[in-house]
Amino acid sequence: MDEKITIESIKQLKNSRKITMLTAYDYPMAQAMDKAGIDIILIGDSLANVVLGLESTKDITMEEMLYHAKAVCRAVKRSLVVADMPFEAYQKDDADAVKNALRFINEAGCHAVKIEWFDRAPDVIKRVIDAGIPVMGHIGLTPQTADKLNGFKVQGKDACAAKELTKEATLLELMGVFSIVLECVPDRVAEIITKKIRVPTIGIGAGPFCDGQVLVTHDMLGFFDRHIPKFVKKYAHLTDVMVQAFQEYAKDVLEGRFPDKEHSYGMNADELKKLQEEN
Ligand code: KIV
Repeated sequence: MDEKITIESIKQLKNSRKITMLTAYDYPMAQAMDKAGIDIILIGDSLANVVLGLESTKDITMEEMLYHAKAVCRAVKRSLVVADMPFEAYQKDDADAVKNALRFINEAGCHAVKIEWFDRAPDVIKRVIDAGIPVMGHIGLTPQTADKLNGFKVQGKDACAAKELTKEATLLELMGVFSIVLECVPDRVAEIITKKIRVPTIGIGAGPFCDGQVLVTHDMLGFFDRHIPKFVKKYAHLTDVMVQAFQEYAKDVLEGRFPDKEHSYGMNADELKKLQEEN
């Protein structure tokens, strides 16, 4: 459990044991995940939705992603840290995409970047890998370009669309990605892709046959209630716990129970006497 996770060890986990991955956006969350032995920590651009309250992941900036990536990297000792390339990061040209990917590695201390599929993805990914940066691919439902996919729907549901996804996975493998996220695809399509390629697949809403699984942490912790997809299993109900704690705190303050002696600082009796005499 203490051994550091590397790109190589992730690749070797295929056909050996399942890979665990979760998203984190700040220091305490990443520290808990690292302690829990999660293999890969992703600074997902889902940060836009679950932390910043934005409607679309397209709206998050490179600077915002970098700020959170730095906080995550400060906490992690064992896990592999992957940063999501935001939409903005590859809008200008391929050279700018490489420059932004390098910022995640050199300024934040991430080990790799993730790049969602879009029409120029294979070219951009090739350039980033040629610059020496490990890349995780992402196909199926790709939220940054969801408008081109008829919205947030399961992808690859007919044989033709499923074949297209298989082609994308094969191409990404050829480009040299070290793993591929499969988002919102039928479980049997994910199984076919997982068997076809040599790099690990990490599923989210892609069934049990992938080499690993990822969830958005705020969804699985019940810490975000806006829209929870069918594939999310809730492992906690943090919003409820927090609301209850905030209500108890407010009641204690209003009714004079907090702060009590236990949570206050005392003073030497003689010093207090002197002070009182002077006032
Ligand atoms: O941004 C994100 O959280 C992601 C996961 C859904 C894989 O890309």
